[in-house]
Amino acid sequence: MHSFHRDFISLLLVAPAVLRAGAADFDPLQYVDQLIGSRDGGNVFPGATLPYGLAKAVADTNSGSNQGGFTLDGTPILGFSALHDSGTGGEPSLGNFPLFPYAACPGDDLNLCVYPKRTRIAYGSFNSTTVVARPGFFSVTLNTGIKAEMTTSQRTALFRFTFPTATNGAHPLLLQDLSDLHNSRQDNASVSIDPTTGRIKGQALFVSSFAQGAYKSYFCTDFSGSTILDTGIFVDSRASTDVKDLAISRSINGYPLPGGAFIRFESPKTPVTARVGLSFISSDQACANAEAEIPSFDFEAVQSAATDAWRKKLSPIVVSTGGGVDQNQIKNLYSGIYRTLVNPQNYTGENPNWDTGEVYFDSFYCLWDSFRSQIPFLTILDPSTVEQMIRSLIDTYRHEGWLPDCHMSLSKGYTQGGSNADVILVDGYLKGLTGGIDWDVGYQAVVKDAEVEPFDWCCHGRGGIDSWKALGYIPVQDFDYKGFGTLTRSLSRTLEYSYNDFTIAQMAKAMNKTIDAEKYLDSSDNWRNLYKANQTSNLYSGTNTGFVGFFQPKYINGTWGLQNPLKCSNIDNTGSVCSLQNTGAETFESSIWEYGFYVPHDQASLIELYGGPSNFVKRLDYLHDQNITYIGNEPAFLTVFQYHYAGRPGLSAKRSHFYIPRFFDTTPEGLPGNDDSGAMGSFVAFSMIGLFPNPGQDVYLITPPFFESVNITSPKTGKTAIVRAINFDPTYAAIYIQSATLNGEPYTKNWIDHSFFTEGKELVLTLGKNESSWGTAVKDLPPSVSEYVGFNGTGAARRTPPRSLRYPVDFGRTGLGFGQ
Ligand SMILES: *[C@@H]1O[C@H](CO)[C@@H](O)[C@H](O)[C@H]1NC(C)=O
Ligand SMILES: *[C@@H]1O[C@H](CO)[C@@H](O)[C@H](O)[C@H]1NC(C)=O
Ligand SMILES: *[C@@H]1O[C@H](CO)[C@@H](O)[C@H](O)[C@H]1NC(C)=O
Ligand SMILES: *[C@@H]1O[C@H](CO)[C@@H](O)[C@H](O)[C@H]1NC(C)=O
Ligand SMILES: *[C@@H]1O[C@H](CO)[C@@H](O)[C@H](O)[C@H]1NC(C)=O
Ligand SMILES: *[C@@H]1O[C@H](CO)[C@@H](O)[C@H](O)[C@H]1NC(C)=O
Ligand SMILES: *[C@@H]1O[C@H](CO)[C@@H](O)[C@H](O)[C@H]1NC(C)=O
Ligand SMILES: *[C@@H]1O[C@H](CO)[C@@H](O)[C@H](O)[C@H]1NC(C)=O
Ligand SMILES: *[C@@H]1O[C@H](CO)[C@@H](O)[C@H](O)[C@H]1NC(C)=O
Ligand SMILES: *[C@@H]1O[C@H](CO)[C@@H](O)[C@H](O)[C@H]1NC(C)=O
Repeated sequence: MHSFHRDFISLLLVAPAVLRAGAADFDPLQYVDQLIGSRDGGNVFPGATLPYGLAKAVADTNSGSNQGGFTLDGTPILGFSALHDSGTGGEPSLGNFPLFPYAACPGDDLNLCVYPKRTRIAYGSFNSTTVVARPGFFSVTLNTGIKAEMTTSQRTALFRFTFPTATNGAHPLLLQDLSDLHNSRQDNASVSIDPTTGRIKGQALFVSSFAQGAYKSYFCTDFSGSTILDTGIFVDSRASTDVKDLAISRSINGYPLPGGAFIRFESPKTPVTARVGLSFISSDQACANAEAEIPSFDFEAVQSAATDAWRKKLSPIVVSTGGGVDQNQIKNLYSGIYRTLVNPQNYTGENPNWDTGEVYFDSFYCLWDSFRSQIPFLTILDPSTVEQMIRSLIDTYRHEGWLPDCHMSLSKGYTQGGSNADVILVDGYLKGLTGGIDWDVGYQAVVKDAEVEPFDWCCHGRGGIDSWKALGYIPVQDFDYKGFGTLTRSLSRTLEYSYNDFTIAQMAKAMNKTIDAEKYLDSSDNWRNLYKANQTSNLYSGTNTGFVGFFQPKYINGTWGLQNPLKCSNIDNTGSVCSLQNTGAETFESSIWEYGFYVPHDQASLIELYGGPSNFVKRLDYLHDQNITYIGNEPAFLTVFQYHYAGRPGLSAKRSHFYIPRFFDTTPEGLPGNDDSGAMGSFVAFSMIGLFPNPGQDVYLITPPFFESVNITSPKTGKTAIVRAINFDPTYAAIYIQSATLNGEPYTKNWIDHSFFTEGKELVLTLGKNESSWGTAVKDLPPSVSEYVGFNGTGAARRTPPRSLRYPVDFGRTGLGFGQ
């Protein structure tokens, strides 16, 4: 088709200039499939957008799983809208002001066209074979014969509707509806249509999807391509050309009143292009955005610019397509990478709450999902954008008083666990991000998380700070009169706050704030206070799992509470309440079994508590093999690779192949859970390149890549880091590292630091079919706060040091590690 031809030409023109990491004829876009995750709850946004684009155009379907707009599950289309989030759960987000096309109203009678969303779906059916999704482009043909194509610039969407020629003589109609996917419109929305130019301007207040608050959204739509026949507005099921302005209330009996504008055209012969400018400031700004970004309505030019932007973003990573590797694995990788670049969104200049001239990103939805691997992935692929995101987080701290934990549609989202923006800031700090970030203010922000309890810790910061300081843990049924949030998750919050404090300690240490470093290192040890050494765990069948020693909730008075270690696990079918409900568990969306591994900074102590490395490995195997963990939610990510800490890096490799492609494949149902704004995509990407981060530390755990080689060019330094596999086996029987070299020198550590990427080092891994001794010695293990004990050659286990003891620390960026 036409647009494909354009893509191909622009590829030839652009490729040699930008593809530094590998062969000039390698086009990563051919391996991107946006439809992965568009069925069975992946909830991805599969439409047209730019990297971090505010405008996200797609067909919205009438699906219970339409959080990202479009689904390939047989449900019909409700409209074509241009604001979306991607991969989220809960209520659908955005989807504002959809357009809907008719080739003609029956008998050319305006009142016989169907306006309300709930009834017009009768005209929204389509055949899934007509769907085309490519970076910067989306297209579908309705069964009515109307073809809808869309592309975007940063804040403007361009839709092109082509009408069936069989309807010659008819007058096509486009309506634009004052609604959103969630039907959350509040009072006093308005729309106006200019009968001369056909320009539609409007605004409405909507409720944010997983947040406190609401947001106002504005649009400005212009048309091109066909002569205007008439214009007007509609309310409910009736329309009139006599009325050009409408102000409408929210709903009648809970049903959001349909209302909007329509425009009819003289002839169906020419396609109609609709340019939808978007803004969160005003309709005038929406018009100005559209005029500045897409002055000429040139669909091909906009699409080609979008394609180029995507190619440029994806080009730093080039994998070998040889060695017999399954092409679907390459698709899995690049599609995962693509999804990491869809959210957060660049709302710079569109923040009505403050305008400091600073960059502004929104749709951090949520950091609890993205701190683990998505933002760390972008720190490699697109560090200057992560610098902008961190600047935006810090600017949000300046204006909202705290770093956000979840933020979407200009609203404070709900916090799920700790203050995990701390981890993101420290991760970026340790990895050398600069880019105008005021790290002194950044440090103030993370310290405030640890020290000052917000009145509304539902939505940023931490709760229970008095208890945390007095008791060293968050008690179950805490007494907290200073701030308010859901008083649950005491156990998972204790573990997350402990790690948050550890990351602050590292930043303090690097900034020479020695007293703070010691203080936060000390409180990072609080996780121990909820470890109950004699706690056992039975399966629901009654069978004892055989493992002893689990975290447990504890009351203010120091008495242990009790939570079944399997509650809220993947095998808990007892109807447990595991989210943010008031009746929720002491662990959030996860079990004690799984949180039992969440001590990312002190795996050495955890291994010791769990009875040494081989028992730790047995417990980790049990977690995965008994389906206690589920890879479709983020707390599972790090557990795939924690074998490294027990001296068994080969088992991490084996485990990542257990999950990919079994749980992550290239079909529309190929994701195990919500993509969560690209979090799942980043899990796939990191796993497949074979360097998984322990976020908040300058540490990547090494496993063999799923390809013969991976080249990653640092956009900062221009240097190319290379991972090369000798004896690469496309059947993945040989996934065990036998030996390695780094820049030609033998390398035995099972982890590497960020300088690998920035300095463009070369890691050569020789693979074999059996585990080897590579990376298994204590000196080769990743850093841990405490010393590794109970490993061969480290002597007998010694007593766990008391909490007041200060651990040896050397968090140096060159990576010789702490406490080895
Ligand atoms: C990676 O870079 C090296 C060195 O420039 C080059 O020889 C190799 O072909 C590249 N690999 C791929 C897959 O392009
Ligand atoms: C969808 O289109 C394909 C290809 O044209 C066709 O084989 C199939 O029968 C169509 N499906 C339906 C439900 O019409
Ligand atoms: C909506 O507009 C009406 C009429 O102008 C006004 O009385 C009312 O207060 C407005 N409601 C809101 C929520 O602004
Ligand atoms: C975000 O938008 C602003 C304003 O247009 C721009 O200066 C900045 O470079 C953008 N950031 C990215 C990563 O595109
Ligand atoms: C911390 O102190 C060391 C040694 O005096 C010095 O090299 C380093 O630049 C200091 N770092 C900061 C951020 O001040
Ligand atoms: C388990 O340990 C606690 C102390 O942490 C103790 O009070 C309790 O009696 C022990 N329970 C059993 C069954 O040994
Ligand atoms: C501690 O508090 C809990 C919860 O109120 C209570 O069940 C328990 O009996 C108390 N323990 C002691 C020793 O008072
Ligand atoms: C775990 O789940 C898989 C399906 O994903 C199933 O095949 C397997 O039997 C389950 N294992 C156990 C121990 O229940
Ligand atoms: C690999 O392990 C298997 C079974 O443990 C053994 O039979 C085989 O000889 C080993 N291969 C090599 C090359 O050591
Ligand atoms: C320790 O040595 C024993 C005997 O050589 C071996 O079986 C075991 O795997 C080793 N454990 C570790 C953690 O290296």
